[in-house]
Amino acid sequence: MNPKSYTIRNKAGMSITVSSLGGIVQSLLVPDRNGKLGDVVLGYPKATQHHDNGYMNALIGRVGNRISKGGFTLDGTFYPLANNSKDCALHGGEIGFDQKIWDVRTFAGADGPSIELTLLSPDGDEGYPGNLFVRVVYTLMEDCAWRIDYMAVTDKPTVVNLTQHAYFNLSGGKDKDLCGHYVQVNASRFTEHLKGNIPSGKVLPVEGTSLDLRQPTSFCECLHGAKKDAYLKKVGGGFDHNYVLDRIAPGLSQAVVLEHPESGRQMEVWTTEPCVQVYTANFLSPKDKGKFGYGFDPHAGVCFETQHAPDSPNQVGFPSIRLDPGQVYRSTTIYAFDVVDVCEG
Ligand code: GLA
Repeated sequence: MNPKSYTIRNKAGMSITVSSLGGIVQSLLVPDRNGKLGDVVLGYPKATQHHDNGYMNALIGRVGNRISKGGFTLDGTFYPLANNSKDCALHGGEIGFDQKIWDVRTFAGADGPSIELTLLSPDGDEGYPGNLFVRVVYTLMEDCAWRIDYMAVTDKPTVVNLTQHAYFNLSGGKDKDLCGHYVQVNASRFTEHLKGNIPSGKVLPVEGTSLDLRQPTSFCECLHGAKKDAYLKKVGGGFDHNYVLDRIAPGLSQAVVLEHPESGRQMEVWTTEPCVQVYTANFLSPKDKGKFGYGFDPHAGVCFETQHAPDSPNQVGFPSIRLDPGQVYRSTTIYAFDVVDVCEG
């Protein structure tokens, strides 16, 4: 089946175009301080090019990020998984949710125009147990926020950790890298990882390291300048780290603020998840020409993958991602754009 594209638009003119292939965001148009729309996600002319280019802007499941040890054990049964990336299972497996054709419908939601994506992942899909029904709703709120509501139910005990792999660059195609952006991540701890980006199990303070983004920080200084230390050199020369969020209460909590002063665009990430993977597109390659007419180099954009910690099924100290029959998996993340005088709310 060929993928189809769907577009919704809010009253401020913000719009999102989404493919039935992987729920891939093909464009996200957001006004700048002069009300001029710009596309704030990287992308390629065809949705089918996105998987091989870093899972670009796609829904990720059943389990985002990495699972080590060739699989995981649940209730005494070992479930082997394909090691589709180096020595681990990454982003759902060989054919994860980003490569599936989802059922899609658009509707007028209570909070704004919405796109509903549903998928039935059969028992044994990519090695995971249980028939898993997944529903994801993208909503464009009137205050210029892109809200994602995830829901899943299963008929056997299983594991679930869904996320979205959007690559943001708030310049709207003008800047070829993240210089010009400032980032703040509300996390005073991160999960240490070993070779292959597999967590050691230790949760360490960011204080005193280049990973400390608790104050607005220039991406340029981190990626190219003074702030670069061993942590940033290790993995592709940039951020690819799981931050444990400092949350005050359950529910939606502000995780990230990304600012691009030149355009006047600012994006806040709010989530119900405990963690966010900050990934500065370290493995992108310019081999394929993107939708702005040029190929994307490392650091062309940044992902804020809200999630439970990587390798949770094999890490006893991390919050569980187990889902049982009768339970409902729910997760919400909001990418809220704040553009002075343009977006109401
Ligand atoms: C995640 C991972 C990265 C990389 C990208 C996809 O963000 O943490 O290491 O695998 O996905 O290229």
